[in-house]
Amino acid sequence: MQLIKTTKDFAGTDILSLQQFTPQSLKKLFSVTAKMKIIAKSAKPSDILKGNIVTLIFYEPSSRTFGSFAAAVKQLGGQTIEIQNPQQFSSVAKGETLTDTIKVFEAYSDAIVIRHPEIGAAQKAAEAAFFVPIINAGDGVGEHPTQALLDLFTIYEHTGTLDGLTGVVAGDLLNGRTVHSLIRGLSLYSRNTLYLLSPGRLRLTRADFSLFAKSGVKLVEIAGEKDIPKDADFWYWTRVQKERFGDIAEYEKVKDSFIVTPKTLADYAGRKTILMHPLPRIGEITAAVDNDVRAVYLRSQIRNGMYVRMALLALILGKIH
Ligand code: NCD
Repeated sequence: MQLIKTTKDFAGTDILSLQQFTPQSLKKLFSVTAKMKIIAKSAKPSDILKGNIVTLIFYEPSSRTFGSFAAAVKQLGGQTIEIQNPQQFSSVAKGETLTDTIKVFEAYSDAIVIRHPEIGAAQKAAEAAFFVPIINAGDGVGEHPTQALLDLFTIYEHTGTLDGLTGVVAGDLLNGRTVHSLIRGLSLYSRNTLYLLSPGRLRLTRADFSLFAKSGVKLVEIAGEKDIPKDADFWYWTRVQKERFGDIAEYEKVKDSFIVTPKTLADYAGRKTILMHPLPRIGEITAAVDNDVRAVYLRSQIRNGMYVRMALLALILGKIH
């Protein structure tokens, strides 16, 4: 896994973890993202990825990540090979290994975006691919770097900074890969404080907690909404990850632990606090909250996913420097 320090480093780089980024490389990515937003909003076609083919291979369900990557490639004039559920619709059903599948699709495309239920699968794919970059679109309970990039861009757009922030991260911190990548991203800076709110059994692993605590971010575990500091810059709510539970009764016990309602916002959020969620939400933010101006999850946060992915693809395919 290569650390991205300069703009040139993006070209040809696998995107596996937020650990690869630096504040400088995020700044660069976000300046390209702002340009992509203008391209996407204009009616004129772009040919930045003309002649490029990107494979999207998703071994786990996806709406936004799959859809926004497909849209990102098409916005830039490129084409996609789209494989959802390869366990059913590809040679994976016949028992083909991940390594072989990746070697096949690198022969057909210029980059591969992969989602897989196993932690470390994207790293394994990157080891299999000699010629094309791999983008991790979620590896089990590991990481989801492109989600964190769009989350960080959303925070940056609203606050103008990624340092000196106070945030609340709530829900399934044990199994939530979006949370793992987001905390890693915010720990690249030295003055961020995150309040972590989760059921006891869904806390960050102690290993992750001490790893992050040694980096730039200050982590504070809290027991309930009443401990949320007033005027946090953002709240990042997540669903309890049902598919990671062996025992569904255990899931039922914790799934409704923390629910945001208009009253929660009125009692604990600040006037400028933004409310984020990677989606899908399964009841942990009630629909009555959606029209609050602070709720960005069905608005800018989704759109930013496509803009950030456009920027990332243009950079790693060496089309923009
Ligand atoms: C997330 C994921 O797949 O990890 N979804 C997404 O990509 N926005 C979050 C989730 O499934 O809870």
